[in-house]
Amino acid sequence: MLILGIETSCDETGVALFDSEKGLLADDLHSQVDMHRLYGGVVPELASRDHIRRIIPLIDDIIKRAGVSRKDIDAVAVTEGPGLAGALLVGTSVAYAVGAALGIPVIGIHHMEGHLLSCLLSGHPPKFPFVALLVSGGHTQLLYVKAPRDYELLGETLDDAAGEAFDKTAQILGEAYPGGPIISKFAEKGTPGKIVLPRPLLNSGNLDFSFSGLKTAVVNVYHKAPKPITEQIKYDLARAFVLVHKTEKALKQTGAKALVVAGGVSANSQLREALTKMCKKRNCEIYFPPSRLCTDNGAMIAAAAAFHLDHLKDFMAPAGFSIKPRWQLTEDVKS
Ligand code: KG4
Ligand code: ZN
Repeated sequence: MLILGIETSCDETGVALFDSEKGLLADDLHSQVDMHRLYGGVVPELASRDHIRRIIPLIDDIIKRAGVSRKDIDAVAVTEGPGLAGALLVGTSVAYAVGAALGIPVIGIHHMEGHLLSCLLSGHPPKFPFVALLVSGGHTQLLYVKAPRDYELLGETLDDAAGEAFDKTAQILGEAYPGGPIISKFAEKGTPGKIVLPRPLLNSGNLDFSFSGLKTAVVNVYHKAPKPITEQIKYDLARAFVLVHKTEKALKQTGAKALVVAGGVSANSQLREALTKMCKKRNCEIYFPPSRLCTDNGAMIAAAAAFHLDHLKDFMAPAGFSIKPRWQLTEDVKS
């Protein structure tokens, strides 16, 4: 079955053609990062307008590259939420227009389910059940994934997402948006343990996270440091970001023998290194999406849709369509 995947929930226009038997045939992406960098973060109205400009040429391009014709497409998968309302509306409008024109079903996908299942696009996909650490610019969650569409929320952030903490830290250090890749690079040169940032909720007894205090802690370290700020302080500060403890606890609690780490922040090399070490110690397998598919993309949305094909008739010829800017993965996806 040939699935066209569309992702426009934030600042990336992502499209892909995924064959449920052959795998990923073609994908393409336009990142708006350069446009939003001028403003230090995503400007929703500009994001929507840019998605409108990019989406159709991107779809035409992957159809050509995959060597298929429009009529070969069997279903459209689109990010229905969560995300920016205007940006989601662009992707869903195009998806439902394509669905109506071709008479094919349109499958609304939860953005985080896309991230979660993006690891299945690697050459070495995990087997169910597993624990998943989802770390992106908008979400930080620990899930117990028993089977596709059977997700149990173990813990989540009570305030900022991990990616947001990276972005805000970079901003305080005077670096450009988005902060994750810069902090990741800085941390490679940092000394582990040189600067210790507070880890709220570390001993809370549950699996929730909190990152908003990190911002204040970074500001304090920054202001107390001798001026001018040395590059080494930036590196040491970046090195102080860790997320491992609660993930290990989730593995212990569930008894799972595999961990999946996904979402934009899963591109972070220190995080990968620390979690890999922890999993080795616990005799656990660890899985990441292919590096280029860690941040938002259309391939993960199409691949996630492949797990909904058994109830395809639910997605046929809808009278209208909706978006879900706020949407809990564990509540609605199971149906
Ligand atoms: O998953 P994603 O592309 O979008 C959302 O769903 O939010 O994640 C974007 C986030 C941003 O906060 C960005 O700073 C962060 O992922 N990020 C990273 C790295 N690359 C992107 N964070 C840490 N290290 C990286 N290498
Ligand atoms: Zn994302």
